[in-house]
Amino acid sequence: MEKSFWQARWQEGRIGFHEPAANPLLITHFKTLNLRPGDTVFVPLCGKSLDLDWLLSRDLHVIGIEFHQDAVDEVFDRLDLIPERQNIGALTRTSAGNLTLFCGDIFDLTADFLSPINAIYDRAAIVALPPETRQQYAAHITEITQSAPQLLISFDYDQTLSDGPPFSVPQPELINHYAATYALTKLAQHPLDGPLGERTQGLEETWLLTRK
Ligand SMILES: C[S@@+](CC[C@H](N)C(=O)[O-])C[C@H]1O[C@@H](n2cnc3c(N)ncnc32)[C@H](O)[C@@H]1O
Repeated sequence: MEKSFWQARWQEGRIGFHEPAANPLLITHFKTLNLRPGDTVFVPLCGKSLDLDWLLSRDLHVIGIEFHQDAVDEVFDRLDLIPERQNIGALTRTSAGNLTLFCGDIFDLTADFLSPINAIYDRAAIVALPPETRQQYAAHITEITQSAPQLLISFDYDQTLSDGPPFSVPQPELINHYAATYALTKLAQHPLDGPLGERTQGLEETWLLTRK
């Protein structure tokens, strides 16, 4: 989707994707990433998710990227962090303590701007992108993180019954994008709930992607 689409959603408060607490699937399956304190997790398309706070509470370094600067600023405010802000190319980097959030387009983020990444947490990231962008996204995220392992939450539903975002990104598509680089393990699946579950039936799937 275009940047203007997401900016309008944020400005109009249409952010049904934002959850009031850390995602239960992150809490349940985080251990499969085998991270240690001091490791770095990358959170693409992070919004102002409380998952960021939860990851920080595990003594991890957290790096995210998000289009909307107000969402970035809100995260630092609620954590009582006074950040430094720096323009880097097309991006703005805001950081304090163990948290760094870039504002801008993920496709402008290169490996030079990142410290080594130990894991990626994708909640509502690949499913937020339209079909024509997802292959490019998968290749880009794999490249800039040197194929760090991923905990990825996806949806599998009949796309003809409901428009995205969030889009349906079922197993065959994930295999198509990622199987050259990663082994894919489905950790869990649950019937859709929340706003999407009210619109259509389907599954929410939790995946672990590990480098081959
Ligand atoms: C569905 S929301 C999910 C936010 C967050 N992961 C969460 O779980 O609450 C997708 C977010 O990605 C941002 N976004 C979409 N495309 C982006 C892009 N190309 N680069 C950076 N951020 C993007 C949007 O502004 C939006 O906040």
